[in-house]
Amino acid sequence: MKKSTTICFCNNKGGSGKSTCCSNVGYALSTMGYRVLLVDGDMQLNLSLSFFEEDKVLEFAQSGHNLYTAVKDGLDLKEFIIPTPYEHLDIIPSSTLMSSIEYELFAKWQRELILRKGLKSIKASGEYDFILIDAPPTLGGWVMNILCASDYMIVPVEASPWGLFGLANMFEFLHSTEEIAPDLSIMGIAITKVDERKNYYKQTLETLQEVEEVKVFDTHIHVDSAVEWAQDNSKPVLVYKKSSRSANEFIALAKEVEALCQ
Ligand SMILES: Nc1ncnc2c1ncn2[C@@H]1O[C@H](COP(=O)(O)OP(=O)(O)OP(=O)(O)O)[C@@H](O)[C@H]1O
Ligand SMILES: [Mg+2]
Repeated sequence: MKKSTTICFCNNKGGSGKSTCCSNVGYALSTMGYRVLLVDGDMQLNLSLSFFEEDKVLEFAQSGHNLYTAVKDGLDLKEFIIPTPYEHLDIIPSSTLMSSIEYELFAKWQRELILRKGLKSIKASGEYDFILIDAPPTLGGWVMNILCASDYMIVPVEASPWGLFGLANMFEFLHSTEEIAPDLSIMGIAITKVDERKNYYKQTLETLQEVEEVKVFDTHIHVDSAVEWAQDNSKPVLVYKKSSRSANEFIALAKEVEALCQ
């Protein structure tokens, strides 16, 4: 496996399961013995809230100890790492000020590469096996930074009528980054929030499987109320309810990720 494999969870469609997959695959990889760093790239703070109570997350946001400060000032991200309550799992929290990150990036030299440069010393140290980045539901200069800092991209797609809408835009955006992010490849599409009672799920799967150049992960994540309860308790679903269907699915997805990184 490459040193510090960096994977971003990206889809401009909101609510497709990016933060849920990022937090739970990250936790699952840490239980498999890997050292994992999570990077919360979204002003909604959902990845941070997956591990800490709201008060704590707002404290990170207000104290300046967060990704926004690091990126805005072009600092080494190493200084912004915080341990989660779990072994082998650390995080760089976000800030609501990330809403103005596009503006901050605008006048910067090589503005697409700021995140990549900020992660350079962490990657070089080999301290982490995986760095997982949670992207916001947008396409723009900041997501470009996330793509340029990543080796792989996982695209969570919700099995719903609008889940596929906009996917073409994202792939087009991805092609436009090829020159500045030549090493980035799509690891796969992760189908999320599956409800097998709905026929639409099968249609989503068939449509995605027709896209020959992109792998669809064998593991599909089903709708499971344990996911929401876990998030409400700031815990990964594997901690909140280890026996739940989704907990087992996130382990299976993490194993697929592991295999693809060998
Ligand atoms: N497997 C699941 N079962 C039930 N609810 C889920 C599941 N996965 C995600 N959700 C819920 O769906 C909503 C969207 O999930 P999530 O926040 O992970 O998506 P996102 O792509 O990160 O959203 P955004 O684009 O806003 O960042 C959340 O309320 C989450 O609790
Ligand atoms: Mg999110």
